[in-house]
Amino acid sequence: MTKSLIIAVDGPAASGKGTVASQLAEAYGLPYLDTGLLYRAVGVGVLDAGGSLDDEAAAEVVARALDASHLHDTVRLTSRDAGEAASRIAGYPGVRAALLDFQKAFAAQPGGAVLDGRDIGTVIAPEAPAKLFVTATAEVRAARRWKQLTGRGEVIAFEDMLADIIKRDERDAGRGAAPMVQADDAVLLDTTDMTIETAFDAARRIVEAARARHGL
Ligand code: DC
Repeated sequence: MTKSLIIAVDGPAASGKGTVASQLAEAYGLPYLDTGLLYRAVGVGVLDAGGSLDDEAAAEVVARALDASHLHDTVRLTSRDAGEAASRIAGYPGVRAALLDFQKAFAAQPGGAVLDGRDIGTVIAPEAPAKLFVTATAEVRAARRWKQLTGRGEVIAFEDMLADIIKRDERDAGRGAAPMVQADDAVLLDTTDMTIETAFDAARRIVEAARARHGL
């Protein structure tokens, strides 16, 4: 079987991984999945049903019933509350198991795919020939997310945003089930001092090197 160009993009919140991943998908003409949206939709689903984020069984029920129609309201899904809810339910093994097959099937499409998240290079597509781990300092990530959220009317102090980011990093990296970690064969891309354009150029070079290595 010929290998396909699966591009796995992992990293912490607001690192720029989503922008890099969607631009790579466009450049290579590949389908793109932001896997964070799945976890965000589960968190929002639990909240909308009046449930508690501490209720693992309820979160798993929502995750098993998830379909594409739950992923459309991107303003709601990218809100601060949705990110916090997502990070909390993402630690439940039952939720992760419920979302696994869909993500694996997305990655395995003929021709390849681009996925971004926390565990793409380690769990969802460990066979991916191109893996990036995109990061930046917590301060820079908080500033980016603060600009994005306040720009569309959410009211939040920068210090609270920074505390959110740090707490989320600890939770995502510290959980037992598929913690956020750089895969051994992933290339680190630190976007702290990069513009969107320079980050994309660097990402593209990483993917080109992977293609050459794998004959893709
Ligand atoms: O990438 P994001 O900020 O939209 O992700 C929201 C949360 O979802 C994140 O804090 C942890 C969880 N998540 C995960 O556990 N695994 C993924 N592949 C993607 C997201």
